[in-house]
Amino acid sequence: MVGAAYAAPLPLMPLPRVVTVSAGALPIDSTFRVTSSGYTDFRLDAAIKRFSARVAQQTGIPLVTSGVKRATLLVECRERGNDYPALGEDESYQLDVAATGARLQAQTVTGVLRGLATFAQLIGPGPEGFEVPSIHIEDRPRFPWRGLMLDVSRHWMPIAVVERNLDAMAAVKLNVFHWHLSDDQGFRVESKRYPKLQQSGSNGNFYTQAEVRQVIAYARERSIRVIPEFDMPGHTTSWFVGYPELASAPGPYAIERKWGIFEPVMDPTREETYAFLDGLIGEMAALFPDPYFHIGGDEVEETQWKQSPSIQAFAREHNLSDNQDLQAYFTRRVEKLVKKHGKIMIGWDEVLAARPGSDTVIQSWRGQASLADAVAKGYRSVLSYGYYLDHLDPARVPYANDPMDGGKLTSEQTGRVLGGEACLWSEYVSPETVDSRIWPRLAAIAERFWSAHDVTDVDSMYTRMEAVSHSLEWTGLQHRSNYALMLDRLAGGRSSRPLRVLADASEALGIAGRRDARQYSSLVPLNRFVDAVRPESELVRKLERDVANLASDASVAELRATFTEWAEAEAGVKVLADAPLPNGRGSVTNGDSVLSRDREGAVVFVAELLPLAHDLAMVGNIGLRALDYIERREPAPAGWLAEQNQELDRLEQPVAEVRLAGVRPVRLLLARANLQSLAKSSVRCGNEPICNSRRTVRNWTLTAPRPNITLE
Ligand code: ACM
Repeated sequence: MVGAAYAAPLPLMPLPRVVTVSAGALPIDSTFRVTSSGYTDFRLDAAIKRFSARVAQQTGIPLVTSGVKRATLLVECRERGNDYPALGEDESYQLDVAATGARLQAQTVTGVLRGLATFAQLIGPGPEGFEVPSIHIEDRPRFPWRGLMLDVSRHWMPIAVVERNLDAMAAVKLNVFHWHLSDDQGFRVESKRYPKLQQSGSNGNFYTQAEVRQVIAYARERSIRVIPEFDMPGHTTSWFVGYPELASAPGPYAIERKWGIFEPVMDPTREETYAFLDGLIGEMAALFPDPYFHIGGDEVEETQWKQSPSIQAFAREHNLSDNQDLQAYFTRRVEKLVKKHGKIMIGWDEVLAARPGSDTVIQSWRGQASLADAVAKGYRSVLSYGYYLDHLDPARVPYANDPMDGGKLTSEQTGRVLGGEACLWSEYVSPETVDSRIWPRLAAIAERFWSAHDVTDVDSMYTRMEAVSHSLEWTGLQHRSNYALMLDRLAGGRSSRPLRVLADASEALGIAGRRDARQYSSLVPLNRFVDAVRPESELVRKLERDVANLASDASVAELRATFTEWAEAEAGVKVLADAPLPNGRGSVTNGDSVLSRDREGAVVFVAELLPLAHDLAMVGNIGLRALDYIERREPAPAGWLAEQNQELDRLEQPVAEVRLAGVRPVRLLLARANLQSLAKSSVRCGNEPICNSRRTVRNWTLTAPRPNITLE
């Protein structure tokens, strides 16, 4: 018998290639032991230690890993493989679990790590205690390049943030950490050769070289490659604070605090620029062991080039007809330096214009078409378009975006699609909120990169993603815990319950929804309601399922209870907004001149939610009325339905940079009420006149012409 806990889809993400579940389960109790045979190294030993610690933490069972005679989980690694994870290495594994024991086989240490991640996801409560179902798994990734890009420039991310995200990446089998280390807002690595880069360009927020080595070692233990990006020739203001001579116009320059595309760009015409880059790339190439080196190349503003007589003269002399040609010249020069220092260049898709060497990897961010273009021209490519986490799209959106779906590719071209990378640009992300902007959605994207092309069932994805979201939190992420913490802070020590009700029904807007709404800069704390609110509401998804399942009394009861809470939360939010906090609590103290008075303090932050709380109350009341009609089997008046739908359109408009996701289940409910009204007048249930059971709402059939209604 498969335990009751496994009636739902197995909490596996990414879904393995072959899964066969059979009767029985392996108990995970105090006799559980892991040991390895075959090849072993420090990575494998460390992985088994981490795995055992995690199992102990999850189950509460103290586990012993040393001096083991008989193992419950036997790990067999066949060969040494690479010490440093390599693009295209064998990551396959096979896992067999029976009631009497488990066996994990892999060719390489990396394969073992991927298999241990799967085993860890399978541990769950069964009827008699923790267990893993009897199972046979054969697994390997679809793409060799499965990454996360993290921008640590616009908002600084300390080492602890990076390391806990590396742990989570390993848990969902991602294998590339792309570290966006420099941008207009900060140069984040210590350069010993050019120390003014970090001294003048980072406000003291940079990684020492020892810390960089620490992160690389941490990632390597998890079989994750680390690829540094030094974005150039644009997005380089922070470099020019210490080295203004690199720029195309005289300084002085200051660290940029806002976002966008700025005028300062490197001077591509001076030999001194390339001498500097030779030194820097050489230093960084020695620091980062990965063979790939990212030079950025995106969004180059042309004003400085256009306005410089000497640059224009250089362009004429070298037959560079426009600024794209100038950038291409720059890219080719930098490519030579990257090669000179033993690395392979990777760049954003703008670098394609330079027609660099054929080993260059193109990272497509501007569309699937740019990936198709790159592979057609013979370049290997990684897709990032559609995986911008900072847009805060619901998980189903990037999940539906496949690196192979960009157009008709020949088999030779598809072979050049290396995979994909999710990107988190950090304009509206702080160390406190970063996890919730990455997770759990990145787990769904990891599945897109690892699992088969036809693994696309969205309901299954959400069920498994929610399960994995919880286990990721146990392993160190803070995407769930910081939600409560931030709402508590807004409540200033009082009960945050009303804010929680509001937040559970809301979804934060992504970068496009925030860009111009406030005078944001990297100095403005990201501690408002919108920063606490999740990109996607788990509660709302649950309520949508309840609406689809109205035949169940439990679903109706849950909807009614939730709508009632929504209707009542407004009063609680009012209390929080009206009562002043103790002196200074929550006020912004950095004295930045961009802040206006009305932004100061948590009281204001709660007061801005009053219209939202009012709207949520209205949504709740509409939901309750709709439920009344449905439960009483009373036709809702057509005029009322039309009016409420219109009202919902208004209530769905963003307020305080969040959207009331709670509108969605209520809209579905109105559609149900409408169907019921139509059913009363012209619809039959089967061949019977309309039946008086609650099931009629679900099992209606039309005998009249089908009305034009879509149930999403
Ligand atoms: C980019 O988003 N500018 C790569």
